[in-house]
Amino acid sequence: MGELTPAAGGGPKRIAVIHGPNLNLLGTREPGIYGAGTLEEINRRLAAAAAEFGAVCECFQSNGEGELVSAVQRAALADGVILNAGAYTHYSIALRDAVAASAAPVVEVHLSNIHAREAFRHVSVIAPVCRGVIAGFGADSYLLALRALVGRV
Ligand code: DQA
Repeated sequence: MGELTPAAGGGPKRIAVIHGPNLNLLGTREPGIYGAGTLEEINRRLAAAAAEFGAVCECFQSNGEGELVSAVQRAALADGVILNAGAYTHYSIALRDAVAASAAPVVEVHLSNIHAREAFRHVSVIAPVCRGVIAGFGADSYLLALRALVGRV
């Protein structure tokens, strides 16, 4: 992912989409929970919706905590960040600190409703420093976050 700079007056809004660990496996990973769609499909839907809203999405996935911290840092000047930190949501203080330091509004998303699952998923250490949280709507969680960040809610 390149360095995202703020939209120059009137330019498209730049939204960074950051996917965490195991989300590269979507499509085959526990489809009963996460659905049959792939990460590529989510990224394609986001790109199409962004184009409608006069925005652009830059998508990045990593299984590594440090790489995700770096991605959040690079996105500090974006107009918004959509972050699904996967399991790191529940315990990564490093990612929380990166989000807290970011000038960009960050929306935490989850495909599944983490509050309806195991107790260890009920806590997000990142949510308190996010602009908002959307969980439980499958791939639509990402689309809803995009709408929120481009002011189309
Ligand atoms: C997830 C929920 C997390 O608890 C889990 O570890 C994931 C995916 C979701 O999108 O529903 O990897 O973030």
